[in-house]
Amino acid sequence: MNKLAIASLALIVLLSSCTRDRSKPNIQYTPDMYVSIPYDPYGINTIMSDSMVAQTPPMGAIARGKKPFAIPEGLEGYAFAKDSLQSPLKLNDFNLANGKKMYSIYCAICHGTEGDGQGKLVTRGKFLGVPAFIDREVTDGSIYHVIFYGRNIMGAHATLLTEKERWQVVQYVQKLRKK
Ligand code: HEC
Repeated sequence: MNKLAIASLALIVLLSSCTRDRSKPNIQYTPDMYVSIPYDPYGINTIMSDSMVAQTPPMGAIARGKKPFAIPEGLEGYAFAKDSLQSPLKLNDFNLANGKKMYSIYCAICHGTEGDGQGKLVTRGKFLGVPAFIDREVTDGSIYHVIFYGRNIMGAHATLLTEKERWQVVQYVQKLRKK
């Protein structure tokens, strides 16, 4: 092929690729790429007829890391926890250190950094009736129960701390009581 033939062929290809209607491609080499079959957002779900129900976990499902707490709320549960619930954690520096950290975040504002019931909310008169730990007859189990469910005007802290963190805080509260 001579140069002229190549040039005119190139010109034909070039011109034929021009069309007036720019919204439509001339040739579709891979039609699936252009014309896909997406599901419309908020459209009818043809796979699961009730997709909202499909999003709720089945009955009895347990979220990862959320072990259920068998002891119930209330005075009876409190008494039971006080007598028989025991910490699964070893007493050591690591657990105490994290207990202290969690305690400073979630408890010290009321109970005070020393556990004397003189947290900032108390000294500023915003929240009253916070006891010093030393004045309460508590056990590991009862402290855990109180962290989990709260007690009277103290709110529950179950959702703020993991099971392990709660037991670490229990260790730290016991340390503060012995001070
Ligand atoms: C908003 C303030 C507040 C916060 C935050 C708070 N507490 Fe309390 N806490 C109280 C009050 C008030 C009481 C007294 C409740 C009662 O016995 O009527 C109490 C009681 C207690 C008791 C004694 C319960 C008993 O059995 O006599 C323990 C132990 C305790 N809190 C631990 C904690 C721990 C651990 C945290 C952090 C995870 C915490 N509290 C966070 C206000 C608070």
